[in-house]
Order: sequence, then structure tokens, then C-alpha cells
Amino acid sequence: MAKLVINNEAKKGTIAPEIYGHFSEHLGRCIYEGLYVGEDSDIPNVNGMRTDVVEALKEMKIPVLRWPGGCFADEYHWMDGIGPKENRKKMINTHWGGVVEDNSFGTHEFFELCRQLGCKTYINGNLGSGTVREMSEWVEYMTFNGVSPMADLRKENGHEEPWVVDYFGVGNENWGCGGNMRPQHYADEYRRYQTYVRDYAGNKPISKICCGANVDDYAWTKGVLETCFDHTEPRFHGLMDGLSLHYYTLPEVEDDWNKKGSATDFTEEIFYQTLKRSYYMEELINRHGAIMDEFDPEKKIGMIVDEWGIWTDVEPGTNPGFLYQQNTMRDALVAGMNLNIFNKHCDRVKMACIAQLINVLQSVMLTDGEKMIKTPTYHVFHMYRYHQGAQLLASELLDAGTVGSGKNELPKVFESVSEDADGVITVTLTNNSLEAGESVELVLTKDAAAYEVAEATYVAGTMNAHNTFDAPEVVVEQQFDAVTKTADGIRVELPACSVVSIRLKK
Ligand code: AHR
Repeated sequence: MAKLVINNEAKKGTIAPEIYGHFSEHLGRCIYEGLYVGEDSDIPNVNGMRTDVVEALKEMKIPVLRWPGGCFADEYHWMDGIGPKENRKKMINTHWGGVVEDNSFGTHEFFELCRQLGCKTYINGNLGSGTVREMSEWVEYMTFNGVSPMADLRKENGHEEPWVVDYFGVGNENWGCGGNMRPQHYADEYRRYQTYVRDYAGNKPISKICCGANVDDYAWTKGVLETCFDHTEPRFHGLMDGLSLHYYTLPEVEDDWNKKGSATDFTEEIFYQTLKRSYYMEELINRHGAIMDEFDPEKKIGMIVDEWGIWTDVEPGTNPGFLYQQNTMRDALVAGMNLNIFNKHCDRVKMACIAQLINVLQSVMLTDGEKMIKTPTYHVFHMYRYHQGAQLLASELLDAGTVGSGKNELPKVFESVSEDADGVITVTLTNNSLEAGESVELVLTKDAAAYEVAEATYVAGTMNAHNTFDAPEVVVEQQFDAVTKTADGIRVELPACSVVSIRLKK
């Protein structure tokens, strides 16, 4: 039997709610149809935002939303997306499917969506093909509360009050689609552009996010920090609040990026390979984190994992540029495992945005016209929502063993534990084994006898179990009964291929 020792006297820091963040790009059916259907649609909506989706995201407690891209961000010219809709420019979305983008969802619509969701806002600016002036004016348009050309224009367009921009990304993937820059060149550009991302008097300061590395490009992390951040030089402080990291789990890619593998049809070997590749996230956090520690030992800069998740081949028959993929129990385990990893690194990881919110890559929801289904990944985010803003507790898992073999071997069980402001402890666990359950004894170091199980839920199924529009409830969050109080602690019987959440209350 495995043992999970929880030191409930050792609080390790706050789990930023933003770790449970999301990403929405003008890509495929993420914005249009997924989130925004327009005021005149037959699909129930409030100011154009579809009601079923907004309600489900609120239940899941979405904390922050990143927009408008992705690669789209560095080609986005925000002025195309303001003013009367009939006058907005139509353009081709060259990155994603070559379809017409009519700009009917722009700045005002994004803030309206976030208002309905009650979440923080993360705007990604255009450094790759936009000017400093354009970026600066966007910030002025959104946040200035006085008399100025941009504030006046916002008011003319119907929004008197400024909005709150919580996070602002100064470019996206500038080592690739955002301009193919070298680290020192980008870092110099970053220094210049961010200067004009102003905090207007009286407003909440905007957290500025610098473009970080792709996967294991440690030279990028070092190069950018060398140019932009020197902890001995106070004038460099405040230049950046966060440094991003992008890492996608590509189940089957060897040499050919186009062969990622099916979202639903895969072997057991590929299942374990996927989990192992996803587990690489921990090494990336440790190694990029070690470089960040050299420059920023006080951990002032957050690691912002603002694109992560499984990227498979698209569903057969769909537009290859739309990145529409199904979502199975394999996705649930990838989500559960990564969220546990982020929680345990909450001293450095301050935000993570799974890609992408709806109808694109590892989504929490899928739509087909007026129909909407929740994916297994949705249920995991819902089960883990109690970790948001809670204190990470020190925990150690003993004797759980491993699964997979050879290069695909990885720990069988992943866990994280937190305590909320009311003293309620949340334990989340994944069992990565396809065949074997696992008995886990939870051992609390303090007041163990006083805790009762207040709530427990789980998702489980075969590795490729998934929901469809015809069968939307194949994988759903259910009450979990295999948890009992014993003389020694609390015993949990994890089913094979499952994600479990347990709440313990005194
Ligand atoms: O999420 C899809 C794309 O992946 C994003 O546009 C880009 O930033 C990344 O390469």
C-alpha cells in the first residue's frame, strides 16, 4: 500500500488561482461559435456570449483568460476590432485555416466576456508586427481614465469607464511565429515596448509578461534574463513580472511534427508515452526555474506556463488549421498530473493557461452548433478548483511505484495537497495505471483523528473513454465512495486510470 504523508503544519505558499487559467485564440471555433455567437444568434446568449458556455466556465471557476493569441496576437491590430461592427475590417486569418476574420469579437467583447465570467484579463500584445505606438495606444485605450485621444475613442465606442488589464503579454513566441528573433534581440525589443505599457495613475498596475522559452530552450531563458533582469540593479526591477514557457505534449511525434497521433485511437504504449512526455513539464520547470533563480533569487518573476496541454492530430474530416481534437481519459490524466505539478511549484509558477479553452487542442468544452459538451479535462479543472488561492501543504508519496516501461516509465500516482482559508484540506491524486488500482493511506501529521471526509469525487474510465454529442456523459465527475477512515488514517482505493479529489474537514 502507498502512503501519502501530509504535513499539515508545513504551508509552502499560496497556489495562485491563475494556475487554473485558460487561453482563447482567434483560431478555429474557439472564439467564434465556442464563446461568441453574436447578439442575433438563436443560441441563447448574453451580449453575444453563449450562456451555456459562460455558466459552465463559472462553475469551473475560471480565474483568468488569455486573448487574442497565440500566433494570432503578433498579427492582430486591435483597432480593426473596435467601433461599429459593420465597419470593422475583414481579414484573412493567415495562421489558422485561412478563413475570414470579421473582427466582430474585439477588445470590448473580450472585456464583456471576462465580466460575465468574473475572471481576470490577460491581453497579449503584438510585438512581432505591431509598433510601439500601437501597443502603447491599446493600453491607453483600455486603461486610461482621463482625457486623451484613446480614452475618448473608447468612450465614443460606448465604454465610459476604463477596464482592468491584469496581465499584458509583450509578444508571443517571438522566437518563432512572433518574429523569429534571437533572445538578445527580442529582449532589447521587450525593454523598449514594455516601457510604454503604462500604469495610469490610480489604476491597478499591469503585470507585464515577457516571452519565454519554447520547451527546453534554456539559452533563450538565460539570454532574455541577462538582457532584461539584473537583481542587483533596482532600475531593472518591474521590467517584467512574468516570463512565459510553452510546452505541448505531442503523443507520437518523432521526426515529423505532422504525425502527432490520434486523440482517441492510440495504443497502451502511446498512452504511457504521452504521460511520460507530459511529465517532462516537471523537468522543464526545474531547469528553467534554476536559471530564473540565478537572476531572481527572491522569485519576484513568475513562471507563466501560458500554453500547455496535449496536441494531437485533428479530428478526421475537420479543417487542419482549426486544431479541433477530442478529449479522453488520457487528457484527464495529463491535466490532473500537470495541475498537481504546478501546485507543487507554486513558489515559481504563478500562472498556467491550458491551450485552448474551447474547440481547440486540449479543451474543457466542445460545441457543435447549439450543442455543448464538457470534456474529461473540464471535470478535472472542476474537481481541482478548491486549490485556487489555497496554501500548498508539504506532502510526500511513499511506495506508489511506477507505470510504463523503459523510456516511458513514470510515477504511478501524482498528488498535491492544499489547505484553504477555512482549514479544509484538498487532496488531488491521479492513478496513471491502466490496469491496477492503488491503495493509498493518507497520513496527516497533526490532528489526524479530527478530520472527516467532507466531499470526494472522481473521474475514471478506459484510456480513450470520451464524451460525444450523442453520448455526453461517458466521463463525468462522480461521487467517490472508496475512501474510508481507519485507525491509522484515511484510506483511499484509487481506481485504475482515474483522477480523484478528496476534501478533509475537521
Ligand atoms: O495554441 C496554438 C498555437 O501554439 C499558438 O498560437 C502558438 O502560440 C503556439 O505555437
